[in-house]
This record gives sequence, C-alpha cells and structure tokens, in this order.
Amino acid sequence: MALDIGATYKGRKAGSISAVGCLSFYPTKNLGGVGDGGMVVTQDAEPADKIRALHNHGETSRYHHKYIGGNFRLDTLQAAALIVKLRLLDGWSAKRRANAVRYDELLADCSDLVTPPIGEHNVSIFNQYVIRAARRDPLQEFLTDRQIGTGIYYPLCLHQQECFESLGYKTGDFPVAEKAASEVLALPIFPELSDEQIEFVAEKIGEFFS
Ligand SMILES: Cc1ncc(COP(=O)(O)O)c(C=O)c1O
Repeated sequence: MALDIGATYKGRKAGSISAVGCLSFYPTKNLGGVGDGGMVVTQDAEPADKIRALHNHGETSRYHHKYIGGNFRLDTLQAAALIVKLRLLDGWSAKRRANAVRYDELLADCSDLVTPPIGEHNVSIFNQYVIRAARRDPLQEFLTDRQIGTGIYYPLCLHQQECFESLGYKTGDFPVAEKAASEVLALPIFPELSDEQIEFVAEKIGEFFS
C-alpha cells in the first residue's frame, strides 16, 4: 500500500526522513481510522522484516517465532475504513491548508496572539492550527461560551507528568516548553469548516482582544 500523508520537509515526505517513520491513524489524525491504528514506513528491507514479524508475535514463518513480539495487527475493519479515507486525504489536506491560510489572513492584525509559523521549506497538513496567546485560558473560555471548540496540545510538559516524577524534574526546569504549554490553543481546522465558520472564529477572537 502506498501512503503519502502529504506533509513534507525540504521536499522530503513525512515518514521518509529517517530510516523508519511512524504514522498514527488515531481517530483525531488527518487520516484517522474508526478506532486505533498506525503504520510503520521504511525503504529498508531489514527493519521492514523485523517490524513485520514483531507486529505478529515475532513470527517469521508459520508458528516459528524469531522475536518476542506482540499482537499489533491492524484490524481489517480499520484497514477497510482507511483505504476509503486515503482516497480523500489529499483533498482534505488541501482544505486544511486553505483554512490555515484564511486564519493567517484574518488574524494577521491581532497583536495579542501569534499564528503558527511554518518554515518556507515545509508543507504542513495542519493536523492542528495552533495559535499562541498569553491570555490563553480566558480566550478558550470565551470561545467555548460561543460554541467554538478548541484544544490544548498539551497543557502539561512531560516532566510535569506524574508518571515521570521519578526523574526528579520540577516545574521551572524547562521554562520555554512550560511557556508554550500555557499559551497554545488549537483552533478548529477540520476540512469541512466553511468560510463563514472561520470568519466567525476570527471575529470572536478579535472581540475577545478588543
Ligand atoms: C497513537 C496516538 N494516540 C493518541 C494521540 C492523541 O491524540 P489527541 O491529542 O489528538 O487526542 C496521538 C497523537 O499524537 C497518537 O499518535
């Protein structure tokens, strides 16, 4: 199965930059399944063979297990949904990019926030369109009250997660990351957004800062 997720870095497709690339088909992703799933992509035979075995309990030939693997087979049901959605992906990505361009235009004059900077050599497919604003929490509340859904990716840094407590880091150790976590806000960017809806979101953001 050929899969071009659509994002590129210096002309190289996402997934092809390193020896092995991983794609998530978690339902919130641009190519989302109807449940969990993912794909590993590589050009090299060696990791391909090993990963193929690992995803099926390390089996290299029927009932012969070279590695201790796991049960990571993609559900047929997921594959069926993803194959259908894959045909629509390029169109959805183009729409996401167009939505981002429109937000960039509409929010350009708002000095209280920063729109997402995309490097000249990058093509983004905007899984998220993340603005940064110092007054992020009241802005999110204001938008929620006006029926505008937003997301925070993510409110806590890894070193602030309970599961990593044993590493001994504390809040203040990574001030840049912590500042980003307190300022980021993802606006609706899904392909089906209408021009009117994007304008409505931008208008309400403008109202909040006025
Ligand atoms: C496998 C997997 N599960 C869950 C998530 C979380 O997705 P979200 O933050 O959109 O809920 C991600 C996001 O990267 C993911 O790749």
